[in-house]
Amino acid sequence: MDSYEVFKKNINSLIDIDLNYYKEKQMKRRITSLRDRNGFDSFQLYFLKLKKDKIMLNEFINYLTINVSEFYRNPSQWDTLERDIIPTVINRSKEPLKVWSSACSTGEEPYSLVMLLTKFYNIKDIKVLASDIDNEAIKKAKVGLYSEKALTNLPAEFKRKYFKKKGEAFQIVDEIKERVEFKKLDLLKDPFPNNMDLITCRNVMIYFTEEAKKMLYNKFYNSLSQKGVFFVGSTEQIISPERYNFKSIGTFFYKKCN
Ligand SMILES: C[S@@+](CC[C@H](N)C(=O)[O-])C[C@H]1O[C@@H](n2cnc3c(N)ncnc32)[C@H](O)[C@@H]1O
Repeated sequence: MDSYEVFKKNINSLIDIDLNYYKEKQMKRRITSLRDRNGFDSFQLYFLKLKKDKIMLNEFINYLTINVSEFYRNPSQWDTLERDIIPTVINRSKEPLKVWSSACSTGEEPYSLVMLLTKFYNIKDIKVLASDIDNEAIKKAKVGLYSEKALTNLPAEFKRKYFKKKGEAFQIVDEIKERVEFKKLDLLKDPFPNNMDLITCRNVMIYFTEEAKKMLYNKFYNSLSQKGVFFVGSTEQIISPERYNFKSIGTFFYKKCN
């Protein structure tokens, strides 16, 4: 068997991440470059080292998961969410929404959702579920300390209201932090929560194979409430959404057909 094939199998048993669902060319190129940088010229030797060296294994996981994020990423989509989607599509009742940020990385997305929802609900009624495959990213999200760059697109009033300056960094206030429940969840393996009114899955599908995407669209469909909306990343529009019983309601937003 090809040594990368063996490496994928070994990684799956070591850290329970199935690389077969990630686009092969891109992933192999990334892993090879990290391996070379660490001074290994075969996948076999690199894996033996990863098995023994926790620090290197953590570096591997961090590199693999690509945690880049920011508050209000692609701001015009957040404007649409505020102007059209929440008031007209989802907010048919006064009940608080069930919201899930499904690849939340270091927290910028779920915290942005909480801040936006304060425009519609009493803060005490807001609850956002946030999940990611990467424990280290979740730990950072729980700390909630960000560089000024991560806040570039965040509306100024939110920056003023919900952050405290800490040296060069910005600390999100507890009032917002407390509204998010973080948990580890692998989209490819774990069961999804039910009855969600808004699900974001942004800037992660691009790494997955077509087969994985198909499986995930069906899982997201089942995870939505009847009025629920699915919000995707800026290069992740669903091709032929009707195949998954989704109807496009804006470039990056989908709802159930019936
Ligand atoms: C580029 S970040 C996107 C963060 C945020 N959604 C955004 O758009 O800014 C991609 C995230 O997907 C997570 N991820 C990768 N594979 C995953 C999987 N199988 N299940 C859950 N999360 C995964 C990574 O750990 C990473 O935090």
